[in-house]
Amino acid sequence: MCGLKQEHASQRSSSLEAKENVTKKHSSDSVINLDQENNWNWPGLNLQWRSNNVRRVLAKDGRQKCTITISGYQSLSYFSDVKNFCWFLEPEFAEEIKRLHKLVGNAVTDDRYLIVGTGSTQLFQAALYAHSSPDAHKPINVVSAVPYYSCYPTVADYLKSGLYKWAGDASTYDKDEPYIEVVTSPNNPDGRLREPVVNRSDGFVVHDLAYYWPQYTAITSPADHDLMLFTVSKSTGHAGSRIGWAIVKDKNVAEKMRKYIEISTIGVSKESQLRAAKILRAVSDSCQDLSDESFFNYGRRRMTERWERLTSVIKLNGLFSLPEYSTEICNFSGVPTKTHPAFAWLQSKGMIEDSENFLKGHKILTRSGKHCGVSTKYVRVSMLDREGTFDLLLERLSNL
Ligand SMILES: Cc1ncc(COP(=O)(O)O)c(C=O)c1O
Repeated sequence: MCGLKQEHASQRSSSLEAKENVTKKHSSDSVINLDQENNWNWPGLNLQWRSNNVRRVLAKDGRQKCTITISGYQSLSYFSDVKNFCWFLEPEFAEEIKRLHKLVGNAVTDDRYLIVGTGSTQLFQAALYAHSSPDAHKPINVVSAVPYYSCYPTVADYLKSGLYKWAGDASTYDKDEPYIEVVTSPNNPDGRLREPVVNRSDGFVVHDLAYYWPQYTAITSPADHDLMLFTVSKSTGHAGSRIGWAIVKDKNVAEKMRKYIEISTIGVSKESQLRAAKILRAVSDSCQDLSDESFFNYGRRRMTERWERLTSVIKLNGLFSLPEYSTEICNFSGVPTKTHPAFAWLQSKGMIEDSENFLKGHKILTRSGKHCGVSTKYVRVSMLDREGTFDLLLERLSNL
């Protein structure tokens, strides 16, 4: 990814730092890292508030509700279910995915192919592979409208595949050639709800719905696209489990995606799938228990609080602007819900040409718009960090 180099360099110290960060408080002059791309494999470090959210769900019925024990003699085989189309998908996990989507109402899963991947990142690559052809005389173009998720260009081009290649902004795509458009909704980095923009018959669309969950946005209908990607990284915050899933309509596409995963990793960790199944079950249970607030309503409430606080600070300091988000009735919660993205997408209003650099000077690390195909006036700031870090962010933005 985006950030792989830093990640390797810091691997040795990451577990130690992750441990420390659970309890460590920031001093007034410490640098706060709100550039999630660098830390996306370090979920314990940055996503603690989401873990707290999970812990709260677990606390009710005791910790065992999300605890799994796997003995040394269990889950040895490559195979999870030889009768299933996706033979490396744990049946328990498949059931929990379907149950959760039904309860939340955010995706159709009936009569669809379900494929598990090592994160939705692996499934994204599988989707590119599935839509490309070894017989084509040129690699197929991969596009996404700006501002796009900064990892797409890197993932598409990292191995210099002869099958597909990054071709930039979908909004200006005018080549008379086949293409794959990635539609991220809500979008990373700007949180907007999106639809395909190229809309031509020689194209394929991959819908990355990592953030189509009630804590981030209103669920207005069950998504029913040809190829949809989801991940536990964003739905429950378990980025370190490296589990994502694809919901696919077409059998040939699903078979090619499965083939990609067979070739690249001969399946997906059973331990991670079993843990993810247990966590999704606890989350679904929380949605059905009417005596208490569900996991998602709790998350939405926390996101709303954070966004209200951030918005008033941004208004007061006057240096940056934020996108406007609409409010829709959420079919899951039944209440009017504004989109509260996982990232704040700040644009400098005046003289600041390089917002990333400017904020770095104030000890706030962010991700520059240049990685998302737009100007350096923009930066992406994580809204999912620990409470103390978020407080410090607001304090520093207030004092700019
Ligand atoms: C839009 C989007 N898709 C995919 C991913 C990666 O998901 P995973 O951790 O499942 O590989 C991210 C992570 O930041 C993301 O923002």
